[in-house]
Amino acid sequence: MKIGIHDLDIATTHYVLNLDSMAKALDIDPNKYHIGLGQDEFSVPAPDEDVVTMGAEAVARLLERHDKSKIRMVLFATETGIDQSKAAGVFVHGLLGLPQSVRTVEFKQACYSGTAAIQTAVNHVARYTDDQVLVIASDIARYAADSGGEPTQGAGAVAMLITANPALVEIEPDSGVFTADVNDFWRPNDSSTPFVEGKLSLDAYLDATIGAWDDLVSRRGVKIDDIHRFLHHQPFTKMARKAHTKLAEHVGVELGPELIEESMAYNRRLGNSYTASLYFGLVAQLHGNDDLAGKRLGLFSYGSGSVSEFFTAVVQPGYHDHIYPAHVADSLDRRVEVSFDEYRELHAAYNGASENYETEEVTQAPFRFAGVTDRVRQYETR
Ligand code: HMG
Repeated sequence: MKIGIHDLDIATTHYVLNLDSMAKALDIDPNKYHIGLGQDEFSVPAPDEDVVTMGAEAVARLLERHDKSKIRMVLFATETGIDQSKAAGVFVHGLLGLPQSVRTVEFKQACYSGTAAIQTAVNHVARYTDDQVLVIASDIARYAADSGGEPTQGAGAVAMLITANPALVEIEPDSGVFTADVNDFWRPNDSSTPFVEGKLSLDAYLDATIGAWDDLVSRRGVKIDDIHRFLHHQPFTKMARKAHTKLAEHVGVELGPELIEESMAYNRRLGNSYTASLYFGLVAQLHGNDDLAGKRLGLFSYGSGSVSEFFTAVVQPGYHDHIYPAHVADSLDRRVEVSFDEYRELHAAYNGASENYETEEVTQAPFRFAGVTDRVRQYETR
């Protein structure tokens, strides 16, 4: 039986920063961002937005098309968790009024955990074939001001429904996995921004690409030309190009840039959305001009630290009837552009404290984070 992603939808933030503004303010050649990193803009959250509000918006859009009574599990993948104990998915469960007979858990391993959640969901559906599992990948990449990672910030959420006989893509059995204990990127409990060894992170990512690919080949004998398009985790889109080149060298074949080009269209404008980044790549690929019906995609998921997975997915006939490019265009185009100074003010005003406070009402999204009362985060439906 085929199991995979039956439907998906997305959300991002209220604000956007154009990287030309950052280049001008910091006196940097804008081509370093546009060409060197492959990024044009990044999403910036309003004070009343977080991973829950973005995740809930993506789920609300998705569930307009589905019967929520069939959902049996909610798996929320994030590295921007809002509580050390309670899963962010429980807040989404409440905001969306999901049935109580649902298992809800949060997954964490840097940018990789969305993939762990999908594989867990696929395994669940293999055993309970009528069940549906909701996977939410939602993150806000927030680096220290003036750090190397600052232009690669971003935010977004992708909600996916995992079922038997999926309308979009079948996730094929057997994948390649790779774990290496490396300190390339981490965020201690007392820091709201990560610590990053930039160059080490590039090498760790590339080593993991090869390690996971070799494991996939040894498990399933996949050949490089069995794969029609490659989607790589995109902390910045140039990274996908580096991984593509490395893989081509490793297997000793030419892999043209057209094999990854369409997957980068949305991430150039969103910035890094950590767990959601690979799946924004998938959304962009499905929305591209290429007819993908029956074609195999190769997906590489990397999470610093590091854990990674290379897996394959086959696009289903008729998938065109189940994609919603207008939702992405709407989310990207309705963002309100901020100046560099306004962005830096928002960045500095980040409040991770649990003392009482109220947030200013800014977001136009269906859900907002209203602040903290008696140490409890308060969410509202607008
Ligand atoms: P940097 O020091 O800002 O940039 O660090 P650089 O000097 O290395 O330049 C970057 C590229 O721009 C270079 O190209 C330059 O040549 C080029 P490359 O050699 O890489 O091909 N360049 C120009 N191009 C055109 N015109 C110009 C120009 N000037 C320079 N005028 C770094 C870059 C990625 C290290 C930094 O942005 C960073 O620390 N980012 C955060 C870490 C990161 O994203 N690592 C990626 C792998 S780890 C990962 O993917 C996991 C992650 O998502 C987290 C998780 O798992 O949770 C991050």
